Amino acid sequence: MQMKEIMSQTINTSVDIGGVRLANPVMTASGTFGYGMEFDEVLNLNRLGGLVMKGLSLYPSKGNPPPRIVETSCGMLNAIGLENVGIDRFITEKLPALKPFDTKIFINIYGKTVQEYAAIAERAEGVAGIHGIEVNISCPNVSAGGLAFGVDPVAAAEVVTAVRARTSLPVMVKLSPNVTDITEIARSVEGAGADSISLINTLTGMGIDIHTKKPLLANVVGGLSGPAVKPVAIRMVYQVAKAVKIPVVGMGGIMTAEDALEFLIAGASAVQVGTANFVNPDAAEKVADGIDAFLREKGISDVNDLIGSVQV
Ligand SMILES: Cc1cc2nc3c(=O)[nH]c(=O)nc-3n(C[C@H](O)[C@H](O)[C@H](O)COP(=O)(O)O)c2cc1C
Repeated sequence: MQMKEIMSQTINTSVDIGGVRLANPVMTASGTFGYGMEFDEVLNLNRLGGLVMKGLSLYPSKGNPPPRIVETSCGMLNAIGLENVGIDRFITEKLPALKPFDTKIFINIYGKTVQEYAAIAERAEGVAGIHGIEVNISCPNVSAGGLAFGVDPVAAAEVVTAVRARTSLPVMVKLSPNVTDITEIARSVEGAGADSISLINTLTGMGIDIHTKKPLLANVVGGLSGPAVKPVAIRMVYQVAKAVKIPVVGMGGIMTAEDALEFLIAGASAVQVGTANFVNPDAAEKVADGIDAFLREKGISDVNDLIGSVQV
């Protein structure tokens, strides 16, 4: 009887991440879900709270030479180097196909200079179908910019201030785990006007072929992602959620609904599913279904009650 009541109970899964309301807390992570439509046949895009697009630069970019993805124990190393069609072609060629879907679209932007970040944000201003901008100040795989901004609180704030000045869209800033104190960068970007913070990007890593003695990646170093990074990500989400007032979006090694729930309880208002998409292309939908099932099973009527509920 009690179980039936719980099963038929209406549950609220909707969350707010800095001015963007998601129908549920599950998003896809940049660079692991293409421009969205690549996955249209394998899962229901309407079932996801939001999609984050592959990183976009001001002009099209070819990225790094191969090999640029290798599997590691419990994860993968990548050095894609932000191959993309550029912001203008994204708007004309990729975005229109996403408009019929009932999900929130975040572009993810990357610049070599502060001015480039601002210029990309400006191109997205007033474009229907873009609901938010994720600012990547944390890419370890490009020679200029990227991570250089993400490891310095002053440079990070400069990027956010410049983007903020050119856009009325909600701004989510994506932080790097490759720092000593992530809360310092988090506070700095919050002060510069970020509406939300997402973390973590990949951890800098390297692998070597013992027979050829050559690095596994042509770029020598790359970004580690997948289950191997999850405990680091949970720790950082927990610390950042306590350090700032704006919402935090957590990611790093989420393969299952249980993983996602751990992030929510640590303090994330939403999550992003990344490497899991390479293993199971419908992973994000399964995570959303699993969160619903958990809420029903536990008799929790609002997912927001879980956010930051960790008992320390
Ligand atoms: C192949 C690949 C490409 C990625 N490209 C981007 C990107 O363009 N922009 C970005 O901000 N993050 C990028 N990331 C980082 C992911 O969005 C995510 O932060 C990271 O992989 C941790 O989550 P995960 O362990 O669930 O994959 C990429 C990750 C992978 C594996």
